[in-house]
Amino acid sequence: MGQNILITGAAGYIGGSVLADFISRTNGLIKAENISAAVRSEDQVQALSKLGVNVIQVDLRNEAAVNEAVLRNEIDVVVHTASAIESRIVSHLIKALDQRRKASGEEVVFIHSSVTALFATEGGWTHGEVKDTDQIFEMEKQIGDSHPVRETNILVIEQAKAHGVTSLNVVVPTVYGRGRGEWRKLSVSIPAYIRTSIKLKLVYKFDKDSSPPAVHISDLTALYALLVEKILHKEPVPNGENGYYFPMAHRAPWWDVMELLAEGLHARGLVLEPKAQIWPSDEMAAEELGFPLLYIRAMCTATGELVPINAYRLGWQPKWDLERFLGSMDDEIEAVQELDKVKPTVFDAILPFSNS
Ligand SMILES: NC(=O)c1ccc[n+]([C@@H]2O[C@H](COP(=O)([O-])OP(=O)(O)OC[C@H]3O[C@@H](n4cnc5c(N)ncnc54)[C@H](OP(=O)(O)O)[C@@H]3O)[C@@H](O)[C@H]2O)c1
Repeated sequence: MGQNILITGAAGYIGGSVLADFISRTNGLIKAENISAAVRSEDQVQALSKLGVNVIQVDLRNEAAVNEAVLRNEIDVVVHTASAIESRIVSHLIKALDQRRKASGEEVVFIHSSVTALFATEGGWTHGEVKDTDQIFEMEKQIGDSHPVRETNILVIEQAKAHGVTSLNVVVPTVYGRGRGEWRKLSVSIPAYIRTSIKLKLVYKFDKDSSPPAVHISDLTALYALLVEKILHKEPVPNGENGYYFPMAHRAPWWDVMELLAEGLHARGLVLEPKAQIWPSDEMAAEELGFPLLYIRAMCTATGELVPINAYRLGWQPKWDLERFLGSMDDEIEAVQELDKVKPTVFDAILPFSNS
């Protein structure tokens, strides 16, 4: 198959880190000269221009622009990290890959990035423990809710099948660690807790402890690289209805995390108390953290009985574990102090409907 890769969301935390990982590789079939990086603004084009990859400025909501970008750059594999929520973007990319397949006569692959919170009770999951080798597509359809992320997961498989596109779905857990991209270098959850604690001069935790799946950004990007290498080598990987991947390295026990943040921020004189307090209300938490109120419990108090199998079977070996994660909270604080320069936009598509 062809070797040209498009990374969407390449100015984002995950996409930027995937891009940095891919271009730093010296062995294998992933080559910088075959990579296109999709970004949204002119500033982002400038920021990525020194990397030696083909930087494309495109609004992924624009179907014609997506089609043109995929065909002109002869894209064979899309690594989509720009949005788990907006199904129309997925649709545009899959349809464009279908056009490319018809032009090249070769296999084309769409790698989606979704969200693990959807597989916990608070995220609407009704099936209890779930392995990524289970019949998740059928289980998701049975739930029949109107969660935009679940609808997008279902659409990935249905549209890819209809258009002759091979699809994979990397269901992303809580990601932490410094991003290696050129633009947004911070993740969503832990940096939000830190910047909010500094603003309020207190660390807050939710009234219910939880321990969601988690992964360090370097281990996550290593999985995307593993998958793309296997695809380029034409090695079989689980795909379509069987192509869900839970890249879970360990869990993130939130109350332990909040107490470590309280200690670390207090030692730096950034909060008034060395202990975390309970949020007075979900409304206040959503407002202060900048999270959608509609999904605040799923994002902040869900655990989920997820069992990761597919990535490990393919040889994925995360280097970060729980101990290393908990030992990195001081660096999480320092990272926010050093790198919190680009406003998060990840919830822009849903915040107006959720918190109003
Ligand atoms: N980080 C986590 O812990 C985590 C956990 C689970 C799932 N996820 C999911 O993984 C995905 C990536 O997360 P992230 O943390 O990397 O988010 P991010 O930093 O906000 O990255 C997303 C990137 O996609 C770009 N983008 C969004 N809509 C676009 C459009 N219409 N056209 C062109 N570009 C567009 C954004 O552009 P701008 O920079 O211009 O806004 C941004 O650079 C998201 O779907 C998120 O829900 C993340």
